[in-house]
Amino acid sequence: MIAGKKILIGVSGGIAIYKVLDLISRLKKAGAQVKVVMTEAATEFVAPITFQTMSENVVHVEMFNQLMNMDVEHISLAKWADLILIAPATANTIAKIRHGIADNLLTTVLSARVSPVAIAPAMNTKMLQNPATQENINALKTWPGFHFLEPTSGLLACQDVGDGKMMEPVDMLDHLDAILTEKTLAGRTVTVTAGPTQEALDPVRYLTNHSSGKMGYALAKIARNRGAKVHLITGPTDLDYPWGILVHPVTSTQEMFDAVASVHKETDILIKAAAPSDFRPANFSDKKVKKRETKEMVLELATNPDIAKHFGQLKGERIHVGFAAESHELETYAQGKLEEKNLDFIVANNITQEHAGFRSDTNIVKIFYRGGEVVSLPMMTKSELAMEILDRVQALRS
Ligand code: PMT
Repeated sequence: MIAGKKILIGVSGGIAIYKVLDLISRLKKAGAQVKVVMTEAATEFVAPITFQTMSENVVHVEMFNQLMNMDVEHISLAKWADLILIAPATANTIAKIRHGIADNLLTTVLSARVSPVAIAPAMNTKMLQNPATQENINALKTWPGFHFLEPTSGLLACQDVGDGKMMEPVDMLDHLDAILTEKTLAGRTVTVTAGPTQEALDPVRYLTNHSSGKMGYALAKIARNRGAKVHLITGPTDLDYPWGILVHPVTSTQEMFDAVASVHKETDILIKAAAPSDFRPANFSDKKVKKRETKEMVLELATNPDIAKHFGQLKGERIHVGFAAESHELETYAQGKLEEKNLDFIVANNITQEHAGFRSDTNIVKIFYRGGEVVSLPMMTKSELAMEILDRVQALRS
């Protein structure tokens, strides 16, 4: 969780520095406090006043003004931080950190650090591939509490194309969130189903629904951040596959069923946020069905397997959570599915309600437990709801 955390950003001199301003804005919006330490070289790219304005805190550059507050600055900054991020991290700063060189405020703070450190390298591909840099990075990766935010590939400032672009701020935020999250699901395997399925009628057409996958992906990411091994079984969506998660892409409900079957044995917690199609066309035509030859079409449907119900019978000690997407009589249908699918609890959303259900970034749900307890939750983002659901799963476990 980023909210309430104190993040110290060590900025070294690289052109990717401009991305750090965006990152600070995102961190502040997420509720973090931010302080910035810059190297002298970094101040050649962007003036400290810019970081001061963005972070709403004094920016630290000089080594020897620490007696200002009768406080030893590098020690107090190191103690203050819940996490230190070095971004952009140049080859020079990485080399100094690895070798314990403390010749500026940034590297001196690092040498006194007590919190986790995240390093976001940004440099030319050749500099990144340089054996010295590689050796330094590989050595630091083995240090306890050190994390690398891996650079990506693309067009670099020097016009070369290759590895060395600093990770994008939105992805950095996701990684920092993971580093700061307590690993309360370590050792557990969580399987999440997400998104819609597509049931082919012919090579052109298929039956599907409006699921975007957002709810399921949010659950998978929060479970990952809490240290679980996560299988994400996903129907076709527009979302990027999240890092650190074992993704199983599927198309039809039968494929989703098969993917759940392949991991159910090792699963401790199964959460079914997907909207699998209950039906499929009874007959698949391998040639496009032509309008000219078929004036009026009656579509015959066959029933798909009910994944939640089938694996509910094999539940054992596992925790199974389902969703219910309803347009009316939410309570009656949700209670019925809770029993029928042998779930520990079911999260019911009214998909006709604004800010709830399909596609939106928020959801409004009621949770129905075995034994009759019902909890109504206010509107929240799908990430917040994912945290709430996993808190409730963990409460059941303990
Ligand atoms: O993906 P988003 O755009 O973020 O939208 C989120 C959501 C609306 C899809 C999600 O919140 C949700 O409600 N998911 C369940 C959708 C659904 O299929 O509901 P259902 O009431 O038809 O099914 C009940 C449960 O059985 C669900 O857990 C479902 O995954 C499961 N099921 C359904 C059919 C089937 N053949 N096999 C199943 O396992």
